[in-house]
Amino acid sequence: MASAKAKTTFFCQSCGYQSAKWVGKCPSCGSWNTFVEEIISKSPSSQLAGISQNKKNQPQPIASITYSVEDRVDTTDKELNRVLGGGIVPGSLILLGGEPGIGKSTLLLQMALRLTGQQVLYISGEESEQQIKLRAERIGIQNQQCYILTEVVLENILQILSEKRPDLLIIDSIQTLYTSLIESSAGSVSQIRECTAHLLKLAKTTGIPVFIIGHITKDGSIAGPKILEHMVDVVLQFEGDRNHLFRIIRASKNRFGATSEIGIYEMVNDGLREVENPSGVLISQKEETLSGTAICVTMEGIRPILLEIQALASTAVYGTPQRSATGFDLRRLNMLLAVLEKRCGFQLSIKDVFLNLTGGIKVEDPAMDLAVVSAILSSNENIPVPSDICFAAEVGLTGEVRPINRIEQRIAEAQKLGFKKIFISRFNLKGLDTSKYTIRIVGVAKVEELYRALFI
Ligand code: TYD
Ligand code: MG
Repeated sequence: MASAKAKTTFFCQSCGYQSAKWVGKCPSCGSWNTFVEEIISKSPSSQLAGISQNKKNQPQPIASITYSVEDRVDTTDKELNRVLGGGIVPGSLILLGGEPGIGKSTLLLQMALRLTGQQVLYISGEESEQQIKLRAERIGIQNQQCYILTEVVLENILQILSEKRPDLLIIDSIQTLYTSLIESSAGSVSQIRECTAHLLKLAKTTGIPVFIIGHITKDGSIAGPKILEHMVDVVLQFEGDRNHLFRIIRASKNRFGATSEIGIYEMVNDGLREVENPSGVLISQKEETLSGTAICVTMEGIRPILLEIQALASTAVYGTPQRSATGFDLRRLNMLLAVLEKRCGFQLSIKDVFLNLTGGIKVEDPAMDLAVVSAILSSNENIPVPSDICFAAEVGLTGEVRPINRIEQRIAEAQKLGFKKIFISRFNLKGLDTSKYTIRIVGVAKVEELYRALFI
């Protein structure tokens, strides 16, 4: 039973909105039935009014402010360095979000174990020391200064940190952290917010970079309030299909670099291995060319990647034909099928169509359209697309082949990987110096032209 003095407030568990009384629908984010009563024993905001309460900051002319790039800590992981914008900035608070089992703990433990010469403190509220040791042995221990602590109470952690100052701190995970300032349970909005605020203060006052792991909910947002994402400097998302080998890390927010970079890993027996040449692994190696596959040159962030698209069009057994897509937007597939049917006269409405992107990754890039169309037509005609051809163009509703961005980078990547011919939109040819490439560049304006070029 709560004491008479205990102060309670209702929090929306999805966005962190506060309300004095219970409401069914959150006025801030619009979600239903997300309000939970949480007990606050002391006013949390008064504890954290400012990071530098003692020292008053004075305005400075921008020209006199200096910084140095060399300060960044090299994570020894090329993919992670790139996503962070060139290493870890001292005093930064970095949130790593991802579904359970995707490899968040593995990624950060691996980094901690490889950062030789740096004292790293890995605090886990999820696994026991023995479990972590077992995992560390799998990955390989290089850093003798990697310390493990299993603790969930924030006050104890802060106490230890005041005695022992690591060069880097890792918290696994923010949802297990608990402060006695707030009486609600670990993982609730107010706990998450309060603990993060303390970690932020710690990072900014001591200059120790702090990584925090956060679980994500089914809809893909980081569990707990959106406010968490506002508080931290960098939000990294770790994603990928759990049943497949590849993992992609990307920054959805980065105060110290671009958010367009991505890193790709492969989960192997001894941890996460960096994938330096993603195109090479994402295209299936095969002896003979089969019908129904086509290679597209797509972009992940600002890196071109070649992906294989597989399609199967077969006569429908039941009245309503089935359409299914893995890694590709189903609505977009339906749209492309309608275009092929209406504008180009292919009888696809009586066919079941299945589409699959190899490697289990999800890409949203309109430049995949032309390869999708080629794969479907190839399967429908049962004529293979030669394996040294690739595609990069969007298809519009009238069956026109539309231009896409970053065409030069895509062509260069295709050439680098040994493709002999690339189909692009004719409109992309404008201003393109084709003489500097050895790969043959074919511009098409309509899907029919592509059909004639490939299958007749
Ligand atoms: P984990 O890091 O525990 O995920 P998270 O912290 O995001 O919940 O990763 C768990 C998965 O990774 C687990 O299913 C086993 C697999 N794994 C490997 O395949 N190889 C390895 O070397 C390690 C450590 C884990
Ligand atoms: Mg974990």
